[in-house]
Formats: sequence, C-alpha cells, structure tokens
Amino acid sequence: MPDEITDVANGPTNGSKIHGTKNDAAVPFQGDQPYGMPNDLVVSKVLDLETTDERLWVPQAPSVSFRPLLLSTSQGYFVNLLRVTKSGILSRHQHTGPVCATTLKGRWHYLEHDWWAEEGGFSFEPPGETHTLEVPEGCEEMVTLFHVTGAYVYVDPWGRAEKVEDVFSKIRAAREHYEKVGLGRGYVDQFIR
Ligand SMILES: [Fe+2]
Repeated sequence: MPDEITDVANGPTNGSKIHGTKNDAAVPFQGDQPYGMPNDLVVSKVLDLETTDERLWVPQAPSVSFRPLLLSTSQGYFVNLLRVTKSGILSRHQHTGPVCATTLKGRWHYLEHDWWAEEGGFSFEPPGETHTLEVPEGCEEMVTLFHVTGAYVYVDPWGRAEKVEDVFSKIRAAREHYEKVGLGRGYVDQFIR
C-alpha cells in the first residue's frame, strides 16, 4: 500500500479534509500565542569554546566556571556549560532532580560508577543519586553541557548536607560576576525564563 500523500489544499488523499487553503504552507501562524508564555531564547556560539568571550564564564571554584544558557526560575532548572581546567575531585553531591549531560570536551567520571563521560557522549543522572565527580589526571580542560533540574546538595561521605546550589544561586553568582566584569548585573536576565 503506497504512503498517504497529503495535499495542502484538499487534505489527505483518502478523502478527509484538513484546514487551510491552497499555498498557505509557508504562511506564519496568524493567531495569538498563549497568554503568559515566556519568550523563546537563542544563545549563539555555544559550541565555539575557543572564541567564547571569557567574561561569560562565571567562576564557581578555583579552575571551575560555568556559562549560563537558560535559567528557569519558573520550573526550577538550569542549563549551563561547566568548564573545569584542573584534574582531581570536583565535588560530592546529591541531586534532587534529574540531570542530563552532554560532554563537549575532555572526560570525567563518578567514583561510584565504572562508566566515563567522554567527548561527544551523553549521560543521565537520576534524581536521588549521590556521587563524586572526578576529572582525571591528564585532562587539561573538561567542558560539559548540563541540564540540571532541582538542586545540587553537596554532602560529606555520609550524606550530610554542606551546601546547596540551584537555579537561584546560579543567578546570584552570575549577577555578581557580570557586574564585576563590566557586563552589568542585568546581563543575566536574558537567560531567565
Ligand atoms: Fe551529578
């Protein structure tokens, strides 16, 4: 049986009709977007790591910085690039929400697992898990695109909480940094939805 062919004017050739008139395929949507919908967001040159304006990277610890891409105060998550330029243990933390990671450069792993996150790879961290991030010896720079829902709870080896980080602490840190480097406190606002 041949694939169904859809005609914009007359609908599927099986006889049922679809809305629209002839030649309207390239006409932009003419209606109103829903009330309360946030603006869309486009960040250019996200993968252009070599030429990125250094001021965009917000320091978070010695040799560790992040570049915010989307800071979702309405849903409690953030998307950012994390850059680490040292090897060794970075942190032990628990996640209150799911995390998706795409490694853009270098490699890293968790002491609790035998898998490695490597350049070009994708990984998922389930909510509730506690793990200890290490960048191995010989890796001069690691950059990973993290989509982090909820909070990082930094813990001691027995799970006792020491510090919490979430979209709001990211915004605070970015505001202070962007003011210091001359971009202005409001620079971070463009990433908030
Ligand atoms: Fe994690």
